[in-house]
Amino acid sequence: TAIFFAIGAVTGTVLSFQLGLLWPSFMEWAGPIIGLAFSIEGFAFFTEAIFLGIYLYGWRKVSPRAHLAAGGIVAVSGVVSGVVVVMANGWMNTPRGFTIMDGTPINIDPIAALLNPSGLLQAPHMILAAFVSVGFAVAGIHAWLLLRHPGNSFHQAALKIALTVGGISAILQPVSGDLLAKRVAEFQPLKLAVFEGQVRTEHGAAFRLGGVWNSEKEEFDYILEIPYVLSLMLYLDPNAEVKGIQSFAKENWPPIGIVRTAFQIMVLIGFIMMCFALWAAWLVFKTRNVFQCKAFLKSMVLASPLGFIATEMGWVATEVGRQPWVVVGYLKTAEAVTPMPGLTVPLVFFGALYVFLACIVIWLMVRHISATPKQFEMIPHPLSNKPV
Ligand code: HEM
Repeated sequence: TAIFFAIGAVTGTVLSFQLGLLWPSFMEWAGPIIGLAFSIEGFAFFTEAIFLGIYLYGWRKVSPRAHLAAGGIVAVSGVVSGVVVVMANGWMNTPRGFTIMDGTPINIDPIAALLNPSGLLQAPHMILAAFVSVGFAVAGIHAWLLLRHPGNSFHQAALKIALTVGGISAILQPVSGDLLAKRVAEFQPLKLAVFEGQVRTEHGAAFRLGGVWNSEKEEFDYILEIPYVLSLMLYLDPNAEVKGIQSFAKENWPPIGIVRTAFQIMVLIGFIMMCFALWAAWLVFKTRNVFQCKAFLKSMVLASPLGFIATEMGWVATEVGRQPWVVVGYLKTAEAVTPMPGLTVPLVFFGALYVFLACIVIWLMVRHISATPKQFEMIPHPLSNKPV
């Protein structure tokens, strides 16, 4: 927690500078409308910092209950930060809470902006993504350590907790994704058409798998169709109409190949992770534990990065899928970005900074993992006689 908090604070500071320096028109236009989200995030961040201090340094100074509560508050404030920031992102997809006069937003209602239709479903989807990614990554690490030290009760306990968090989230994630896709169909039909490879508007639209975008023919090559299923999934009606890419002005098309590929990878990984969760549940039901099944532990090691890959793909689908807009229908990305020349230098500098920070995280995590106990012993809490 401490490692990721520290890295989060550094990268977050860079991001806030970047918003002002690289996106001045966006901040001028959108700042008063979505500023509330960033203020709440600030409060959540400070709460997290205070209670993280108690959690990390208070083990000998506060009671076990207070220590546990401090950990709980760290988790809740982290979730609150994530929720408000993703709701601000949702506002860029479905802008609400203002009217336009002479090209300027007036009558600003920050609450209506925050509670925009996309954000309300994007936020739980992202929180589940965080839980599923971290749950699977931690489960993979402990599965690997259990293969090397079978019977180690520390790794068994850790694997159980990580699998419970990751597994429950992996089962809920496709449900949340399905609701989100229906919302995208309602408010961003072009994005949905790109996600689903729907080129022409049709009744009884097929569900499509695979496909390579051919920009000359404006068609997908090598695509597999399952008739009526997309209409059924989106509107519970096999003959419902689904709008196609060609029904929208070409100047508003996002980069189709990238968006569709990212979306498909995310959904595929979502289903693979759901299968892992069901496999774990079946093993627990049949044998009461997952530790004896070497095939499961080995597969878990391989599955550990999947959540992070899906999360990256999800963001590519959402953000590249919104192009050419930064705020749909109001502000284009080209109008929002800084007109300053010579941006290569800060790009290289910040890129190098992020690579450096990533290396530090990997190094610290490897050190942390290799320091985990070979044998787990119950340590009594200094202020209580009971083992914790
Ligand atoms: C299993 C089926 C899944 C479906 C049907 C699905 C659906 C969607 C949809 C429709 C969006 C676009 C939202 C928008 O542009 O407004 C999205 C975004 C996203 N997805 Fe998924 N998703 C699935 C699985 C996953 C998984 C497994 C992860 C990560 C572990 C994930 C992470 C994300 C992220 C980070 C975003 C961008 C942020 C957000 O909109 O919340 N998704 N997903």
